[in-house]
Amino acid sequence: MIAPAPDRTLSLRVSVTDRCQLRCTYCMPEEGVDPCAHADILRYEEIATLVAMLKDEFSLGKVRITGGDPLVRPNIETLVGMLSRMDIPELALTTNGQALADKVDPLRDAGLHRVNISLDSLDPDTFRTLTRGGDVTRTLAGIRAAVRGGLTPVKLNMVVMRGVNDHEVQAMLSFALNEGCELRFLELMPAGLDGDEFEQRYISCSDICKALKTEFKVEPLPLRSGETSQMHEVESPAKVRGQFGIITPTSHPFCTGCRRLRLTADGHLIGCLARQDRIFIRPFLDTSTDAKRQELFRAVKEAMGHKRSDAVFETQPSMARIGG
Ligand code: GTP
Ligand code: 5AD
Ligand code: SF4
Repeated sequence: MIAPAPDRTLSLRVSVTDRCQLRCTYCMPEEGVDPCAHADILRYEEIATLVAMLKDEFSLGKVRITGGDPLVRPNIETLVGMLSRMDIPELALTTNGQALADKVDPLRDAGLHRVNISLDSLDPDTFRTLTRGGDVTRTLAGIRAAVRGGLTPVKLNMVVMRGVNDHEVQAMLSFALNEGCELRFLELMPAGLDGDEFEQRYISCSDICKALKTEFKVEPLPLRSGETSQMHEVESPAKVRGQFGIITPTSHPFCTGCRRLRLTADGHLIGCLARQDRIFIRPFLDTSTDAKRQELFRAVKEAMGHKRSDAVFETQPSMARIGG
């Protein structure tokens, strides 16, 4: 059953940096990607200009701060504070959690509502290999601090890959239920990795669900139009109950009703993750004149027209530039 379509509210994902402490194999090559020059990165005031315009001219329901890893950017809580003062209904952030534990209090005090955290493995060696150097204990500390600090619901994103971490789906679900987090299993997207690697590693969410059902009681909930994840009720073998989600951009794209827009760290507006169209809006991020404000408005309308209309996923060079 498809739930009724939501209103026409926009949701903005803002990448504040293309830098990251990690080099996840599904996101970027081992040598990393050429970083944007410092001067090309948008200032917080410029980001706030777009958010204010979207709030005035459209209905803006959510702003999600992404990266790279957004916690790499100095004083990220300053941006959170600026956006919080604009009364955005939902102000969230997605992070790899490596630097989160010490940031929870300043972020919450600045007005952040909640966080999503990438966690692809609980095993220190697998985590280190997959992220090319990450320390799982840091991300676990970040998760626990976020739950304790009230940045809830804390959602965990696990990109499931055949032969890498697919044997961990049950352990990850038990972990998330015990920690009071909502785990989402993500299908691999053909972005940031070469064709062979994608074919080898891709595993569909229906296969993931099959594996879960060998141990857990699983009941799908109605699909919510415009949301990324299909939610399920679950009960673990230890009788812990909760919910988890599956995100199926590859097997079942969730494009119907999509109202997401992305702003890259260097000022490009992207209407669709599966397309390479982008509009450079930095010149209009100073709305001191009516002409610039109109250009910005036009760019937003144009980007919202760039939604994918077929099954083709145009490979993105690196997710780190786009913020997932
Ligand atoms: P919630 O507000 O908690 O539902 O967040 P979210 O799922 O929108 O954000 P998150 O940053 O946690 O993203 C989860 C995954 O969904 C990431 O892998 C994203 O790349 C993917 N995703 C988010 N938006 C889109 C989209 O518009 N298209 C596609 N194909 N994938 C998306
Ligand atoms: N396929 C699926 N998910 C990806 N992410 C980054 N690159 C990919 C990919 N190629 C996810 C991260 C993070 C989210 C923002 O995007 O794991 O949780
Ligand atoms: Fe929206 Fe494009 Fe993602 Fe589909 S693929 S959900 S249209 S951003």
